[in-house]
Amino acid sequence: MSRFWSSLTHDLKPYVPGEQPRIADLVKLNTNENPLGPSPRALEAIRGEAADTLRLYPDPQASALRATLATYHRVQPEQVFVGNGSDEVLAHAFAALLKHDAPLLFPDITYSFYPVYCRLFGIAYETVPLGEAMQIRIADYRRPAGAIIVPNPNAPTGIALSRREIAALLEQHPDVPVVIDEAYVDFGAETAIPLVASHRNLLVVQTMSKSRALAGLRIGYAIGDADLIEALTRVKDSFNSYPLGRPAQAGAIASLEDEAWFQQSRARVIEGRERLTRGLKSAGFEVLPSLANFVFARHPAHEGAALAAALRQHAVIVRHFTAPRISDYLRITVGTDEQTNRLLSALSRILG
Ligand SMILES: Cc1ncc(COP(=O)(O)O)c(C=O)c1O
Repeated sequence: MSRFWSSLTHDLKPYVPGEQPRIADLVKLNTNENPLGPSPRALEAIRGEAADTLRLYPDPQASALRATLATYHRVQPEQVFVGNGSDEVLAHAFAALLKHDAPLLFPDITYSFYPVYCRLFGIAYETVPLGEAMQIRIADYRRPAGAIIVPNPNAPTGIALSRREIAALLEQHPDVPVVIDEAYVDFGAETAIPLVASHRNLLVVQTMSKSRALAGLRIGYAIGDADLIEALTRVKDSFNSYPLGRPAQAGAIASLEDEAWFQQSRARVIEGRERLTRGLKSAGFEVLPSLANFVFARHPAHEGAALAAALRQHAVIVRHFTAPRISDYLRITVGTDEQTNRLLSALSRILG
């Protein structure tokens, strides 16, 4: 803390990302990265941009990438916004769309970046408790709201809402912006993008970090009515007009053009999730029904913090949260089969 800091800075409670440790032979299952790697075509396109043209600024509108995304998702380019990871897209959405007199609503257990943005942008919010089975209950959102944000599937539970439930949420609140954060949607949940045509208040946010294995390149995007996209663009152009560099724009386009790789990657992660779930259940864990690339699991006889620490001794890193209702859970990323085997054999040694 320093006397040079603004009062805003003093009051911030920054998000703490999962650690990126450098431990030899580590099984890293703590940040929901995709173990299968990006499309080779994306890598080739990125290498192609490692050229003299890097002295030039990139296209500030990312027009080619937005056109590719528009075709891919069957919307117009004016309905597409891109940013430096979906975290940046979300930050712009909080500033541009989610600050109103009535509170922003989001689940009590959810992506922990949301309250951080609220503090940064001075947004009043209320959290809505998850149900008994840790599920989001749409009926509970029937209360005064200035805006709503929900991840689908939710993080860190992995539990998804159906498109019908999202439509019901939109119908409850036709006059406030509703953001659906679909970071993990490609692993089995239904996207809300088809609802954009009939709901002008819906913004769907997706990322290339998870299903496209491009977390290191930082590409996220939003799809919604052109009016919502214009709001995001106004904030972006008041902050940083060039969020995506040339390699990121080219890599993202090439990734979208490699549908076969994408489909294969999703299918392998989904298979890996089912395998991981079976293994954890036979080790005595309760595993929430996940449609993401991670599972949220607890052991009835062992504390979450102790298990996470013991796994670390075996060079296996998973994510543990200290919030009361979830402190006995571990969030475990779906890794390769070999990583899952190492996790399960470490657990069998720990649990005896
Ligand atoms: C629910 C949710 N939304 C958004 C993100 C941000 O992802 P990125 O900034 O890599 O697109 C994450 C990352 O873990 C997430 O869990």
